[in-house]
Amino acid sequence: MDSRDPKALMVILLGPPGAGKGTQARRIEEEFGVPHISTGDILREHVTLETELGQKAQQYMECGELVPDQLIIDLIADRIGQPDAAEGFLLDGFPRTTRQAVVFEEFLNNRQLKLDTVLLLDVEDEQLIARISGRYLCRDCGSDINVAELESMPESCAYCDGELYQREDDREETVKNRLQVYRRQTAPLVEYYRGQGLLKKVDGSGTVEDVARRVTETLKQEQGQEA
Ligand code: AP5
Repeated sequence: MDSRDPKALMVILLGPPGAGKGTQARRIEEEFGVPHISTGDILREHVTLETELGQKAQQYMECGELVPDQLIIDLIADRIGQPDAAEGFLLDGFPRTTRQAVVFEEFLNNRQLKLDTVLLLDVEDEQLIARISGRYLCRDCGSDINVAELESMPESCAYCDGELYQREDDREETVKNRLQVYRRQTAPLVEYYRGQGLLKKVDGSGTVEDVARRVTETLKQEQGQEA
């Protein structure tokens, strides 16, 4: 039996690159008090620190391919085993293949835990590409400055004046490949979780606030059902 606090949430955020998973996850983390676990962020940190995992993952990430399943499964098992994730978590970017999903399900079953919901952020391709190609990050404070709707490219970070850069995998050719990889390897998870009755599709279009309202409403309903 799952003996967690009935209000605690175990959630997967699913969706293509640029759907807004990271953006919404940071808000959910704050509002619902569950740790945001992003495999992409963890991997990028390993790449920066030049760890063994980072060196293995970098070649895949730079061309928009998925990092091998076993590396990711070990990484997630280690992260979810940490005390802050004992009651709940919000997974962003995991699972991304059927094998990852199946192994994760076994992992939860062995601990008598179960997922509450899988939120699918649904966004048209045209918007995905505009969001990704407009994303710039600040080298100093890490802020995400999206220039897609700005009239001109800012010279530096609006918050700290730091240098802006684009993620290596946000280059046009790599983005196209990431979208194809999503369709081929990750999209089958939509049916996988729909079949388990866990899938909730949320319209991911509109402003960040519009999407946040829909996501919050869906999660509050979920909490209400669990409580
Ligand atoms: P990862 O970092 O997970 O990349 P991704 O899924 O491609 O995610 P993105 O960060 O591009 O999109 P997002 O949906 O989080 O959107 P965001 O909120 O940032 O993975 C990177 C790589 O790591 C993978 O390609 C793979 O190599 C490897 N990897 C990671 N996990 C793996 C796994 N499980 N297995 C194997 N390999 C793995 O938003 C994007 C931009 O849009 C931002 O600038 C944001 O400000 C803006 N934005 C967001 N919402 C809105 C909105 N509503 N309106 C306007 N702009 C918006």
